[in-house]
Amino acid sequence: MRSMLITGGAGFIGANFVHYWLAHHPQDRVVVLDALTYAGNHASLRSLEVRDTFRFVHGNIRDQQLVERLLREERLDTIVHFAAESHVDRSILGPDAFIETNILGTHALLKAARQVWLEAGGSMPHHRFHHVSTDEVYGSLGIGGQSFTEITPYSPNSPYAASKAASDHLVRAYRQTYGLNTTLSNCSNNYGPYQFPEKLIPLCIINLLKQEPLPIYGDGKNIRDWLHVADHCRGIELILENGKPGCSYNIGGNNERTNLQVVSALCAIMDELNPEFAPHQRLVKFVTDRPGHDRRYAINSRKITSELGYRPTHEFMIGLRETIEWYINNKSWWQPILSGEYKDWMKLQYGEG
Ligand code: NAD
Ligand code: DAU
Repeated sequence: MRSMLITGGAGFIGANFVHYWLAHHPQDRVVVLDALTYAGNHASLRSLEVRDTFRFVHGNIRDQQLVERLLREERLDTIVHFAAESHVDRSILGPDAFIETNILGTHALLKAARQVWLEAGGSMPHHRFHHVSTDEVYGSLGIGGQSFTEITPYSPNSPYAASKAASDHLVRAYRQTYGLNTTLSNCSNNYGPYQFPEKLIPLCIINLLKQEPLPIYGDGKNIRDWLHVADHCRGIELILENGKPGCSYNIGGNNERTNLQVVSALCAIMDELNPEFAPHQRLVKFVTDRPGHDRRYAINSRKITSELGYRPTHEFMIGLRETIEWYINNKSWWQPILSGEYKDWMKLQYGEG
């Protein structure tokens, strides 16, 4: 049995992971630490609050004392670290928060883990610090270039990617220098329920539901390797169970698509669900490209497949349809997001009212 601290558990992947973990490991204790930034949504975890194995703590990962207190008080043996500023476009307009949370925040967590698990008499020999990172640390691939492996050199291009790369290096250093029991995963673009509607897929789903433009940066030919969030959760579970300490693992979806293909697929599904508004493709609007926009990401998942038996199971078109249906059936989750900060962001980024 594990006692886990999940940072960023009110965010997209963190919330999916908490639901996944408690469904598959109902005996385990799960404590979520989340600052509830604009991207955090407490409502994603509400249904879990009746469980006595679950606790939500509203706080910042930069608060080392708070983290140390939680690790001691709850006798936590595992940290799964999702908390981050995660949106590339926001990192371009304002990098500071990315340095503060992704670098300094990760360092505060590492310091707390070292203090409680290693320094205080080595009281927790079977601990694990799992750091959730991204394929963006590897930089951009050309069409036909070899997909990213765990030994691809880091070459981050956005402030977001650079901050994640820095945090990965800190995790590695705490393993090498202090012997902290760490693992790391670098995954590709996730999609699924509970995703904040600033990212391509949920943004387009909501704009489709509102009959508003679907903004596509540049020529729409940038490629991402789409991974269903439940497959990502399964990959992390495999690493926690059998991953080698000190190792990193790439997790991908074997599912490369151009942005235009992704948006066209969403439009086609919406044509079936909402035929009176077809064709939805008419809503596509090409807009100014993202500065420094990485052309292509592609993950080689061979290591996690051969060592740990990982295999993505979600077929993309089915996963997309289920995701659209989730947003249709959970308007009360996303409608409150659309006012206030989100409206300001949309205006700043897309120049819309
Ligand atoms: P998200 O933006 O949806 O959620 C981030 C969560 O972290 C939010 O709940 C937010 O409130 C919380 N948070 C932010 N700053 C905090 C702080 N200082 N202290 C405590 N909590 C804080 O992010 P996501 O898309 O779920 O991504 C989760 C992790 O996975 C991130 O580390 C991200 O870099 C990584 N990742 C994401 C993707 C993707 O496609 N979304 C792909 C690869 C890797
Ligand atoms: O690859 C993993 C990364 O995937 C994660 O580390 C990041 O946290 C996550 O945000 C995501 O980054 P991307 O920049 O790839 O995701 P985003 O959804 O912002 O964009 C996906 C692609 O779609 C990208 O090529 C930019 C493009 N795009 C995005 C938006 C928001 C558009 O064309 N129009 C848009 O409005």
